[in-house]
Order: sequence, then C-alpha cells, then structure tokens
Amino acid sequence: MDRIAITGGAQLNGTIPVSGAKNSAIKLMAASLLTDEPLRLTNMPRLADTRFLGKLLTRLGVQVTESDGPDGQQTILHAPEITSGFAPYDLVRQMRASFNVLGPLVARSGQAKVSLPGGCTIGARPVDLHLQALEALGAKIDLHEGYVYAQAPRGLKGAEISFPIVSVGATEHAMLAAVLADGVTVIHNAACEPELADLQDCLNAMGAKVEGAGTPTITITGVARLQGATHAVIPDRIEMGTYAVAAAMAGGEVRLTNARPGLIDALLDKLKEAGAGVEPTADGVIIRRNGHRLESVDVETAPFPGFATDLQAQFMALMTTANGESRIRETIFENRFMHAPELMRLGADISVAGGEARVRGVERLEGAEVMATDLRASVSLVIAGLVARGETTVSRIYHLDRGFERLEEKLGACGAQVRRLKGDGEAEL
Ligand code: EPZ
Repeated sequence: MDRIAITGGAQLNGTIPVSGAKNSAIKLMAASLLTDEPLRLTNMPRLADTRFLGKLLTRLGVQVTESDGPDGQQTILHAPEITSGFAPYDLVRQMRASFNVLGPLVARSGQAKVSLPGGCTIGARPVDLHLQALEALGAKIDLHEGYVYAQAPRGLKGAEISFPIVSVGATEHAMLAAVLADGVTVIHNAACEPELADLQDCLNAMGAKVEGAGTPTITITGVARLQGATHAVIPDRIEMGTYAVAAAMAGGEVRLTNARPGLIDALLDKLKEAGAGVEPTADGVIIRRNGHRLESVDVETAPFPGFATDLQAQFMALMTTANGESRIRETIFENRFMHAPELMRLGADISVAGGEARVRGVERLEGAEVMATDLRASVSLVIAGLVARGETTVSRIYHLDRGFERLEEKLGACGAQVRRLKGDGEAEL
C-alpha cells in the first residue's frame, strides 16, 4: 500500500485552492436517488469516498458520470429507476455515510435493505437516531442479521422529529427522507453544520420545500416528486482548516482560495490566539507565521459553529511544538485520540486521560515511521512531518485518500517536500 514521505523543514509559501466538501458531496450524491431526472453536481472533489459511493449508487440503479464540465469537475447522477434496494455490508462497512441511502430508497420506492455500518475507529457511532427518525416518518423498521429492513409501502408521512443529541448524519438522513413524505416534517435539535444548508439548497433546487437548515429547527413540506437540478458543492471547510493549520505549523504565507473563511471561525480564532497571522480575503484567507514560535491554546470540540472535531487532530499536531501546555477536549467522539501515540513517535509530549489530551510543546519533532488510523488523524501526521527533523513516513494513507484531494500536489506547490511512495505489496491490515 502507498505511503507518504515528508522531509521536514520547508516553509509553505503559495496558494492552495480548496476543493468541494467531501462531507457535503456524499450526501448530495445520495439525493440523486430521490428523482428520475439527472442531478448535476459541480465543484465535486475526486476522492476515494465519492468514488466509493458512486459504486454503491450504481448498484442501486444510478448512472454516475464524472467529467470536466464548463464549471470544473462535475458528477452527473441519474436514476431513471431504482433497480435494487439492497446495500450490502461490504459496501456500507467501508464508508458509514453509505447508510444514508436507506431514507431516500424508502422515500422513493417504499422499501430497502441496508447493512448496519458497524464500528469505527473514532467511536461506536450508532445509527439509532437515523432509525428513530425514519420510524417517526412512518417506516416499519426491522433489524435482522446485521441488516435494516425498512418498509413504507404507502409512502412516508410528515412528522415531528426531536433529536436528543445533535447528529449531522441523522439530521441529513431525516431531511433526505422527509422531502417526499406526505405532509410537514419538523426536525428539532437539528445539526447546524454548513453541509445541512448545502443539502437544503440542493434539495430545494430539485423542487423540495425545506426551510431552516443551519438553525436547530428545520421544516420540510413534502412534495410528490422531485426533478433534476444543477448544484455546486460548498467548499470543504475541513480541508481549508487543515491547510490553515499546516501553514501555521510550517511557517511562511499561504493563501487559501475558493473557500469561505466564515465556516471555520472557531479555528481561525484559535490560530490568532496562538499567534498566527490570519487575514480573510474575498474568496478565502491568508495564513502567515514568520519565524516566531506559537503559544499553546486550549480547544474543546463542539457541534458547529464550535471547534470542529474533524480539525482536532490537526490542531493537536500544531500544539506539539507550541510554547507551553495545551488542553484539547474531544466531546463528539469518545475515541478520537488515536493520533496521539503516533505524534508521540515523532517526539511529541502528550498524555491522554478520558476525553482530554494535554500537549506540552517541545522545541522540535523528529521524523519517524508512523501509521494513519483515520482520515483526519492521517493528515495530522503529515502536518507534524512538515516540521519534524528528517523524514517522516506515514503508512495506511488510504485513510488520507478518502478525504484529501491531491494533497501532495497542493502542499508541494507551496514548497513542502511531500511525496507518495508506491506500495511494495506488503500486507497492512
Ligand atoms: C459527520 O459524522 C461527519 N461525517 C464526521 O466527519 C464528523 O466528525 C461528524 O459529522 C461530526 O461533525 C460525514 O459527514 C460523512 P454525528 P456523523 O452523527 O454524521 C452520536 C470525517 O472525518 N450518534 O453528528 O456520523 C455519534 O456516535 C468524519 O470526515 C448517536 O449516538 O456524526 C457521535 O458521538 C468523521 N446515534 C455524535 O452522535 C446516532 O444515530 C455525533 O455524530 C448518530 C450519531
């Protein structure tokens, strides 16, 4: 399997264009199941996860065509009819968001059989809230042998859905199912992440009636059918935040473009507090650090607009060489510190107790061989490698390829010494 090698020490100077958001794109792709007309998604990232979901959707009857359109990378998804309502374990296990095909399948064709996703390295991540939402909408849910059987032969019915905790995936899933339900659905305690508003915009372009996404209450008035549409995927706020942290870590000056800095205010505030230069521009942000050492700051992850859990690993990498001690609290996922022991292999001084990591900044990191454990953890190791003395090699980078488009190219264009080592066939389990 491929690895990434980073030779530390180079500053970053240049421009990095931010891609379309992975976590939005994969939900928008699922929306194609709701109509027999083509859905054209532009600003599409080309990632392992989007390819992967494309494969699953193809099995369900969606024609998926990737191309370079008049406005850049696009994917056209067209499901004249649903040819199968079955999403097997093999496909759902590899990418949890595949589970979100369940709601649209039931909404469009009255039934589906979708595998439960199973465990995950960052936490248990159950899907009980997804199932509660579908049941509230009138679907009959049965669980057998690891599969969810959902049926609503006479269609879904609008309902009041109150989530006990904020869940991005369950809110999106409820929205995807309710757009074709008969009557009005109100989702209370909805997630407010920007990907929700993006999904709302796309569904409304398809003829749905959704209001309130981006606030804790979303109202959906069901319609009988949806039509085709063209929709541009929002910029990837996590990719933007990752390169902002990389620039603050390596030093230099990086301009991030095609981005919306307002989506990562919580991170940008922390970068400023740590001493990095942050200058918003019309289509992104400039991050700079010239020589001086950053100061340690504390962070606590929270639902949007709080500090994103998907930026926690990267921020921990940044704090490994800052002056002083930083406390990092993870409140969204119970096991999301797997990067800590790998950062310690590079010389970081970190202790983890429960949901809190204490990072005592060291003068410098030393290159080493490290292993990626999940998507955001893997990029935190690359960020640390940018300043580690000598060479850092990150293995299991299939995690990285799920969510970062052309990472070596983007960092390389700013002067980073990052290269991909092609796999030698050795088994990595
Ligand atoms: C989405 O996951 C993102 N994934 C995650 O990004 C992100 O970390 C997370 O939201 C939080 O922002 C995608 O969009 C594909 P949740 P999701 O449901 O929807 C619990 C990445 O690296 N919960 O908001 O799965 C759950 O266990 C990924 O790109 C239940 O208890 O997250 C967690 O503790 C990683 N029951 C909390 O809610 C449920 O039915 C929030 O999870 C659903 C969730």
